[in-house]
This record gives sequence, structure tokens and C-alpha cells, in this order.
Amino acid sequence: MTINGLDSKVFLAPMAGITDKPMRRLVSSFGKGNIVSEMVAINALSFKNPKTYRIADVRDENYPVIVQLVGGNPELFADSVKLAEELGAYSIDINMGCPVKKIVSNKSGSYLMKDIKLASAIITTVKKATTLPVSVKFRKGWDNNSVNAVEFAKMCEDCGAEYITIHGRTRSDFYSGVADWDIIASVKDAVKIKVIGNGDIDTPQKAKEMLDYTKVDGVMIGRATLGKPWLISQTHEFLENNTVPLNIPIGIVKDTLLRHIKELSDYYGEKSALSLSRKYVCWYCKNLRDARKFRETYVRIDNMEQAIIEINKFFNEENFDKEY
Ligand SMILES: Cc1cc2nc3c(=O)[nH]c(=O)nc-3n(C[C@H](O)[C@H](O)[C@H](O)COP(=O)(O)O)c2cc1C
Repeated sequence: MTINGLDSKVFLAPMAGITDKPMRRLVSSFGKGNIVSEMVAINALSFKNPKTYRIADVRDENYPVIVQLVGGNPELFADSVKLAEELGAYSIDINMGCPVKKIVSNKSGSYLMKDIKLASAIITTVKKATTLPVSVKFRKGWDNNSVNAVEFAKMCEDCGAEYITIHGRTRSDFYSGVADWDIIASVKDAVKIKVIGNGDIDTPQKAKEMLDYTKVDGVMIGRATLGKPWLISQTHEFLENNTVPLNIPIGIVKDTLLRHIKELSDYYGEKSALSLSRKYVCWYCKNLRDARKFRETYVRIDNMEQAIIEINKFFNEENFDKEY
């Protein structure tokens, strides 16, 4: 059984500023798993803003990329979806879950859970504008007084969405508290299209727990992949072959971080890559001994050569038990 022709039940979550081309290349290099882009703003894409155009361009990636679009205007969606198609999208995901104020005040993201009429007009228009498969990602509801994920899921199905992804939090929750897996189970129970569950999966075992508990068709993992790009393929392997994930040797962690920085440099240029690498260094060395001291040193580094020397010094195998 495949979801939308894809060969894995496991999805890398769309994360603005994170699931860019460097991260996607890295995640896909470890093995199987489905990959969603960062959200792409249709207002900017339809006016061919060069930066946004570049974000949406996935033509040179040799694995399927689900491109996520965010916006609130059906006509601009129609234009954008055609551009995304030209720029190599494997399929289109519509963001109806983003909680950020700038997005919701623009009648986009999770605002659309309050305006089902507009949400359905968007899905219907997108479906008419493209032959690519269309999916929708949304939340439990706007807040705990207006939980409407089941109704919303049925609307997506009626409008022709191929599959849906539900994050078990409301807009008011943002990312706090515990994701509600019961609402995910209710959504799965209410529709015939495939359902992907999302929220709080941080290990392959937890992905299986969600599949067993909610009966969803697939799982999506976000924050737990920060500093662990291997988690997607590891989860795929665990679910498919029951391969119990082994600890990652510290040498592989170091090599992956260096590879990540190289990808960032190739894509953004060395100066931007150095500044972006600061957040990645924090994630890759999370839970390691003396990580705090290392981070303090790293943020003061002002050239890539030195950055690489310091990373090699910190991740020296003699400093650790060789496993992560
Ligand atoms: C930094 C960051 C950026 C995000 N950007 C997006 C986005 O562009 N589109 C989207 O649908 N969700 C976005 N999300 C939400 C995630 O896709 C996911 O739904 C959420 O993190 C819950 O999953 P998790 O518990 O596995 O992290 C973002 C989350 C984070 C932490």
C-alpha cells in the first residue's frame, strides 16, 4: 500500500527555515522516507519573487519533493500551483495549519480552519489548476472551543484532496503541550482518503505507537529530525523491517554535521552558511558532554575554516563513548 505513489509511510515534516534543499538532500541520502519542502508563500511565488522562486525550485533533486504552498487567495493559488509544477513539484500540499500571526492575519495557514468556505474554495481551485496530487495539512482546530478537525477532514475529502495530514494540536497550542492522538484517530475513522498523523514522534518506536494507536496510514516527523537527519530513514526501516535502530557512532554525527554545513555553503554561500550552521551545531551536539562550552566557542567563530577545525576538535572520538 502506498500513499500517493510514494514508497514510504514516513514523512519529513515541512519546517520553514529547516527543510530547505540542504536538509532534504541530507535526509534523502540516508535512505527512504517522503520529503516535504518548506512552506512557499503564494503571494511571493505568483509574483515570481526570486528568493521564493528559488525556494520552490526542486528540479535538481533526484527524489520526489512534495511542495507546500501557503496563502489565502484561490486565484493566486491557481497561478502558484502551475509554477510549482513547472519547478518540479512531485505533488502539492496546502498549508492550513501554520499558527504564526503574520500568516493567519493574512487569512492563511490555520486561519482557514475558521473559514471552511474559503478553505474549500482553495482546495477546489488548486485541484482544477493542476493534475498533480493535492494534499492538505491542518491542525486539531483553532482552539479548544472550536475543535473541528473531523469536519475539516471530510471537507478536504469532498473537495478531492488525495490525502491529509493532521497535527494533533490547535492553533492556540502552537507547539506546546502534548499532541492529541485521539483526534488523529477520530479523523482517520471519519474519512476514506489516506491520513498522516503528526505530533510528538521522536523515535521510530513512537512512530509505531502512533500507527498502532490511531490506525493512520503514515506518520510525519518534524522537530525530532533537527540534528538527526537519519531519523526518517531509520523510522522507515524500523516500520518496514523491524530493524531496531542502533546508536549512531559519534564519527557519523560529526560527518553528517560537516556534510550539512557543506550543503548549506553550496546553496547559500559560505557567509550565510556559517551563520545558519550555529543553530545546527546546537542540535547536533545536544546531549553531548561539554556541548554548552562548545556552543559558546562556536558562536564566536567568524570564518568557515576555523568552524570546521573546532567541529573536528569537539567531535573527537576520544571525547565520547563513540555513540550518540
Ligand atoms: C521551525 C518549524 C517550522 C515549521 N514550519 C512549518 C511549515 O512551513 N509548514 C507546516 O505545515 N508546518 C510547519 N511546522 C510544523 C511541523 O510541520 C509539525 O507539524 C510540528 O512541528 C509538529 O510535529 P513534531 O511534533 O514532529 O515536531 C514547523 C515547525 C517548526 C518547529
